[in-house]
Amino acid sequence: MTERKVAVVTAAAGAGIGAAITRRLAADGFDVVVTDAHERRCKELADELSAEHDRPFLSIPLDVTDAAAIEACMAAVVADRGRLDVLVNNAGWSKIEPVAEMSLETWQRCIDVDLTGTFLGMRYALPQMIAQQSGAVVNISSIAAYETSTEHGAAYSAAKAGVLALTRVAAAENGRHGVRVNAITPGLIYNDFLRKIYPEEFFDGYAESRSLVGRIGQPEDIASLVSFLVSDQAGYITGEVYGVSGGVHPHG
Ligand SMILES: NC(=O)c1ccc[n+]([C@@H]2O[C@H](COP(=O)([O-])OP(=O)(O)OC[C@H]3O[C@@H](n4cnc5c(N)ncnc54)[C@H](O)[C@@H]3O)[C@@H](O)[C@H]2O)c1
Repeated sequence: MTERKVAVVTAAAGAGIGAAITRRLAADGFDVVVTDAHERRCKELADELSAEHDRPFLSIPLDVTDAAAIEACMAAVVADRGRLDVLVNNAGWSKIEPVAEMSLETWQRCIDVDLTGTFLGMRYALPQMIAQQSGAVVNISSIAAYETSTEHGAAYSAAKAGVLALTRVAAAENGRHGVRVNAITPGLIYNDFLRKIYPEEFFDGYAESRSLVGRIGQPEDIASLVSFLVSDQAGYITGEVYGVSGGVHPHG
């Protein structure tokens, strides 16, 4: 068994939050398993981290809508590394269509990636954490879970709200096994890909007129909170939801 704590991050190889979390946990000393639906980028990030930290990082291509693949991924991590200490369910998907016009396909894909993907990650990681009597899970939700807004689309908002309920019940079931489960609700965390989803007006003046701190969020803003939540310093924190939105939409 490896001495280092082992963390699995889903959707870890993109341009945004997942990669920032992966880099941060690697810098914190975790043995991070890079998983992502994009096979090439997944391996590239693991190779980059291996070179940077001079120790081997594992990459496992993983689409979180594939239950069998998630089960196999967690089993492979335990077989290869001997332990599983942290899971960050980061994968998300959204397409904005009004409820009155939404296709069932859009609804279903959102639920599959954002909600069922988070469930499946926990479903196949928790048994190992329970066996170890320790572990920490962080689920990446969104302020869309509780905003009264048309900005995110109902399927995404409903799925991300589901993630919060799932987080609380999973926390209640597993605290006595030494496993903590928390969620983060990011506000706008900039990456170029978002330009394909949101209209230009969404970004106009966001930093000046909406953010209370005069800037748009960066992936590292989420990574620092994940770093804290999975650390022993957060040992009394479970079942909680933390907003990171520059004050745009505080939770409470
Ligand atoms: N960016 C934001 O403003 C924002 C705001 C609130 C919440 N979030 C949430 O944060 C998380 C990360 O978002 P991000 O925008 O930083 O993107 P990201 O860069 O972390 O994720 C994109 C990556 O996800 C991968 N991916 C897509 N579908 C997948 C699937 N089915 N299985 C596995 N991997 C898949 C892609 O290959 C890509 O590499 C998501 O859950 C998102 O809903 C983002």
